[in-house]
Amino acid sequence: MKTATPRSGCKVRKARLCDAGEIHTLMQPFVAQGVLLQRGLAYLCENIRDFLVIEDGNHRIVAAGALHFLDEDLAELQSLAVLAARQKSGLGRRLVKALLAEARRHRIWKVFALSHAPEFFTALGFTVTDIGRLPRKYMRDCVHCPKLRGCHQVAVIRDVFDGRNRPAAPAWDNASPGEPYSNSGPAAMTLAAGLSLPVLR
Ligand SMILES: CC(C)(COP(=O)(O)OP(=O)(O)OC[C@H]1O[C@@H](n2cnc3c(N)ncnc32)[C@H](O)[C@@H]1OP(=O)(O)O)[C@@H](O)C(=O)NCCC(=O)NCCS
Repeated sequence: MKTATPRSGCKVRKARLCDAGEIHTLMQPFVAQGVLLQRGLAYLCENIRDFLVIEDGNHRIVAAGALHFLDEDLAELQSLAVLAARQKSGLGRRLVKALLAEARRHRIWKVFALSHAPEFFTALGFTVTDIGRLPRKYMRDCVHCPKLRGCHQVAVIRDVFDGRNRPAAPAWDNASPGEPYSNSGPAAMTLAAGLSLPVLR
């Protein structure tokens, strides 16, 4: 991946394994505020290839975020954090754009996030959706989350490709409103609430 250096001297690059500790430290204030999920150092090491970081001119990491593949054509933006002192200067937007470029490279069709800051994402072309349309996410992570009952995260989603660059749509993208965003095949189970969930592979 090409790195981009803006006028501020900051550049976006892929994370390296040795960045895991700094990313962990960067996330902690937001974990304490309850706006980011805790990710242990071991998790960050195992998943470091998901992460992009922005480093300043002194090679200090000032922002980080991950693109986590969830399905053949669906990915989640996770652990997006900008150092408090560097917020509101465009770094978050740059990071999301770089993560979307990464998604395009992998021919990911849709990207979603669960966030306490949905307005930040809607300004970047995301729309608010229902977690019920992300059953794979719900069954894999949400049901195990200690905050499930009091969760205030809002699900936001957007197409990765727009206009002319759009590759052929996967069949599931023709789903009616309310159907899941998922390419998980025909096998499905139904919850008491009426939510139709794919069988997890
Ligand atoms: C959310 C976050 C990543 C935004 O990063 P940032 O670098 O401050 O954002 P930017 O400067 O790129 O802002 C881009 C736009 O979003 C807006 N914005 C930034 N943070 C916002 C928030 N929390 N809520 C709503 N809008 C927000 C900005 O005002 C700006 O709008 P403008 O272009 O009209 O001025 C950052 O505030 C952060 O790390 N928050 C704590 C962790 C978190 O909530 N992560 C997201 C959940 S995955």
